[in-house]
Amino acid sequence: MDHPVALITGASRGIGRALALKFGAAGYRTVLTARQQEALQETATMIEKQGGHQPLTVAVDLMDMKQIEALARQAEDAFGRVDVLVNNAGVLHLKPFLEITPDELEEMLKVNIQAVFELTRRVVPGMIERRSGSIVNIASLAGKHGFKTGTGYAATKFALRGFAQSLMLELREHDIRVITVFPGSVHTRMIGRNPHAPRSETMLQAEDVAHAVFAAVSVDSRAMMSEIDIRPSNPKRG
Ligand SMILES: NC(=O)c1ccc[n+]([C@@H]2O[C@H](COP(=O)([O-])OP(=O)(O)OC[C@H]3O[C@@H](n4cnc5c(N)ncnc54)[C@H](OP(=O)(O)O)[C@@H]3O)[C@@H](O)[C@H]2O)c1
Repeated sequence: MDHPVALITGASRGIGRALALKFGAAGYRTVLTARQQEALQETATMIEKQGGHQPLTVAVDLMDMKQIEALARQAEDAFGRVDVLVNNAGVLHLKPFLEITPDELEEMLKVNIQAVFELTRRVVPGMIERRSGSIVNIASLAGKHGFKTGTGYAATKFALRGFAQSLMLELREHDIRVITVFPGSVHTRMIGRNPHAPRSETMLQAEDVAHAVFAAVSVDSRAMMSEIDIRPSNPKRG
């Protein structure tokens, strides 16, 4: 297929930016979304500087379901299809259980799971029609293992895993892959700003996650890497 289309959420920084650069460098046309238009434009400029196609940037708050609908429409209008959807945007509030506020819980539930559900359901019909496509979800090892201060965050990532496993079983019959990635701690702002975040001496880099996602999407379409765990090979190495 000439220049497939990848829609990447949370592309303004961190893992989403690394994903955008990876897909952009591989000749994908990209739709980049997050709330901050300026930071999205920076990602877009980086892609163009490395010789990639000019991305479409769409500033969207994933807390707002109407904006999610508009995003899917804009991607479809601009490129006619989405071949790879990467549900990457996420929010982390790590605190002891009794300190998590209702607003923090709502934000994690909306961005980490409800928005994934809503955006995916707008992209899947076109994939079913074309009998091809990949839905990639960036979960977390916190979606498989609970930990202190993770009551809210881990709950949303466990939910994402349940969503993804069920969706995978439905969509594989339409030749659509559902790939879910479970990284340990990655060196991004999300972890850097949080005093409760787990740290190891050798943290993963955003590029490691992008590399794994790209490999899973690029393997022959007969194979599906449905779940991928990523952790430091040796957490004690300094
Ligand atoms: N870092 C880690 O250690 C780690 C480990 C495992 C899994 N993950 C997962 O990896 C994904 C990316 O994390 P990261 O480390 O790259 O985090 P990050 O640097 O904080 O980036 C988060 C991204 O999500 C976007 N976002 C947040 N709230 C949004 C909203 N309401 N509407 C639209 N976009 C929103 C942000 O953009 P704006 O602020 O511009 O809106 C930003 O682009 C997340 O799902 C996270 O849970 C991270």
